[in-house]
Amino acid sequence: MNILILGSGGREHTIAWKLHQSKNLSNLYIAPGNAGTADIGINIPIGVNDFKGIKNAVLTNDIDMVIVGPEDPLVNGIHDFFLNDSELREIPVIGPQKAAATLEGSKEFAKEFLYRHNIPTAAYQSFTSEDLEEGYTFLESLKAPYVLKADGLAAGKGVVILNDLNEAKEELKSMLVDAKFGNASAKVVIEEFLSGIELSVFVLTDGKGYKVLPTAKDYKRIGEGDKGLNTGGMGAISPVPFADNAFMDKIHERIVKPTVDGLKKDNLPYKGFIFIGLIKVNDDPFVIEYNVRMGDPETEVVIPRIKNDLVDVFKAVGDQSLDSIDLEFDERTATTVMLVSGGYPEAYEKGKEIKGYENIEDSIVFHAGTQIKNGKVVTSGGRVMAITSYGNNHKDALQKSYQNIQKINFDKMNYRKDIGFDL
Ligand code: AMP
Ligand code: GLY
Repeated sequence: MNILILGSGGREHTIAWKLHQSKNLSNLYIAPGNAGTADIGINIPIGVNDFKGIKNAVLTNDIDMVIVGPEDPLVNGIHDFFLNDSELREIPVIGPQKAAATLEGSKEFAKEFLYRHNIPTAAYQSFTSEDLEEGYTFLESLKAPYVLKADGLAAGKGVVILNDLNEAKEELKSMLVDAKFGNASAKVVIEEFLSGIELSVFVLTDGKGYKVLPTAKDYKRIGEGDKGLNTGGMGAISPVPFADNAFMDKIHERIVKPTVDGLKKDNLPYKGFIFIGLIKVNDDPFVIEYNVRMGDPETEVVIPRIKNDLVDVFKAVGDQSLDSIDLEFDERTATTVMLVSGGYPEAYEKGKEIKGYENIEDSIVFHAGTQIKNGKVVTSGGRVMAITSYGNNHKDALQKSYQNIQKINFDKMNYRKDIGFDL
């Protein structure tokens, strides 16, 4: 099979690494990919939203299947684009069609879905600039902290949580009236604040059946002790130690099953990953958000724990035979620590040569923001590399990642030294 992966981060390198181990793989292509994917496949220099370029690459390289990494092309309808094209129609795309991708593309759509299917989530109301005053009144009816979410995609920055009522009103105005997040904040969802510990559950569905993948927890803040600005994710752990069987049963019954059933009831075709962001309030799970793709860096700990041949698994998603597959997971814990460019998630420099990662043996190095320039591997993004290790528990696994990180260096390299601190 010839497979094309869309994307260029640690998530895509991890999927490439896993597919590369399959006997059923012939050629692996990644668009646009990074220096890590170039080692195990062929990078094609086209963007994930360049649908015409993607079509051309698919036909030229005889691609049999496309795996979509990030949400953007899904929300823009890449899967629909394939279905509507007579030359591409038969090629399976892993990732939902545009209608279901709206679960990530619009917070209001996701909240309506959750309510319609009685899936536990925070109470909410949504507002536009027309009803700013009603928004103020709703904020007054809530207790601090106040959670404001831009409805549309805002590069992971669209959620603002504030303790002060007046600041929350100002923020609401800035989002709705001053278009703080552009068109993404033309509508704002205001939510009840839920207090608890977060985790994520990943589901793979073929639109008929589904499989629950290992749980993971990521560390989003740049600073130790979960302080400072939000990032794409600074590290992750799988499985989540506090997600015991009793809690997983609740997640399964109250959230996963009604989500997949809800997609069917609402006639939302879905072949791909569902990333369910959850919060544990006392002993009960509530949905914080849906994403229509795998997480990054959660992929770097979830995929390495899947023992099956991933080509077989994706084929089964494509032809809706997922029920016939028994997924097996590695019992060990996997952890990953993200190496980032100094300054990230604010301004940072690129083009720094990365040294010392080539000879690491007991961790897996997944490239994220890297590229090859003049024969050297250099940084090309904020998140540069994820160092994944296995262990008997998260401390054991993290120790390996941290030891191996000592061997890697690039100018202004930064990483969090406290992944798992709260467990
Ligand atoms: P989201 O982009 O929806 O994942 O939100 C970003 C982060 O905001 C989440 O990971 C949570 O930490 C936090 N958050 C979102 N909604 C709530 C809520 N209703 N209560 C408490 N925290 C929330
Ligand atoms: N790590 C969070 C995400 O991928 O959305």
